[in-house]
Amino acid sequence: MRSYNSTDSIPLAQPDITEAEVRCVVDTLRSGRLSIGPRLEEFERLIALRIGRQHAVGVSSGTAGLHLALLALGIGEGDEVITPAFSFAASANCILYVGAKPVFIDCDPRSLNMRPNDVEKHITEKTKAIIGVEVFGNPMGMDRLAAISSKYELPLVEDCCEGLGGRHNDEPIGRYGRVGVFGFYPNKQITTGEGGMIVTDDDRIAQRCRSLRNQGRSASTTQDGPGLGGSWLAHERLGYNYRLSEIHAALGCAQMRRLDELIEARQRVAAAYTRRLMGNTDIILPTIEPDTFMSWFVYVIRLSDRFTADDRNTIIEGLRRHDVGAADYFPPIPLLPYFQQQFGYKPGDFPIAESVSHRTIALPFFSTITDREIDLVCQTLELMMTRIAFARS
Ligand SMILES: Cc1ncc(COP(=O)(O)O)c(C=O)c1O
Repeated sequence: MRSYNSTDSIPLAQPDITEAEVRCVVDTLRSGRLSIGPRLEEFERLIALRIGRQHAVGVSSGTAGLHLALLALGIGEGDEVITPAFSFAASANCILYVGAKPVFIDCDPRSLNMRPNDVEKHITEKTKAIIGVEVFGNPMGMDRLAAISSKYELPLVEDCCEGLGGRHNDEPIGRYGRVGVFGFYPNKQITTGEGGMIVTDDDRIAQRCRSLRNQGRSASTTQDGPGLGGSWLAHERLGYNYRLSEIHAALGCAQMRRLDELIEARQRVAAAYTRRLMGNTDIILPTIEPDTFMSWFVYVIRLSDRFTADDRNTIIEGLRRHDVGAADYFPPIPLLPYFQQQFGYKPGDFPIAESVSHRTIALPFFSTITDREIDLVCQTLELMMTRIAFARS
């Protein structure tokens, strides 16, 4: 199956779906119970157990989870929330959803995560939360963010959408924050097609999120149907429909049972890329701290300073012309047009994130990519890089 979001013959990403997942989804379809049922409960239990959290609340996407986490923490207009300049847009969009102001922090050039010292410098009286992201699944610096969050008594919302299954010093990703949010889009370590999961040990936050995801009904509401005098039409607060269907949850259960196998396969792919590219002095490989267990969301390399953003774009276009998927993860969030318009950010405001984002290339990364395909990707990448260096000389 090579059809995931792409016509590339080596796609950028691809889910790993076996007969076990197909059976689980088909059984659910045959069960007649398609929303709010046993598969969602099971999926939530599997995630809570794996991360070591009291509560797991399934939602329709990682973005929905981040939105609810901020609402459950009571964040709103007039508040500031610290978040990375270098991440996926949802890490900051969720702050706009609740009417608060994002305060962006530049990234560390090695981990690509927020620099903890900068986080501390940007805390003001208006700061009401810190969103910490394990960028590309790398937990480097999260322990320091957790310490800052304790020191200032500010809740840490862990946007761990890219890090399921990873850990540092035996602390699993998803346990650093007061609330954590995972995402299950098809390029993630496990997928539900679309989906997300909020994890927390805080009973009140979990209750709030359960209510908010289900149209503001009481957290204990069951699907008793309209007209029966039950709680189905008793909305306690303004809520959303952010539920995760039984079909999605069934897929999630089957994927969770294969999580270790999927991570092992991703580690094989990452190790193969590292072995193949480590001798190239114009390529900066991901920096992983000792005592870190990476579950590998993506494999993103960076070109050396000899290459410009235009060079990088030419290389990505060249890879795609050769049927190799590649992407420029991520443009700095504050420089996205709507953030520039609303807050007046301009090029130069986040120099490290900008310099990094000009030179990143995400390479094809999925559990079933073969060593031959990895070699082909690397050969094509190096050919494109040589062409640029040659054209310049
Ligand atoms: C860091 C980060 N946060 C949030 C999200 C949003 O997740 P979703 O696409 O499930 O809404 C993603 C998705 O890729 C992400 O990478």
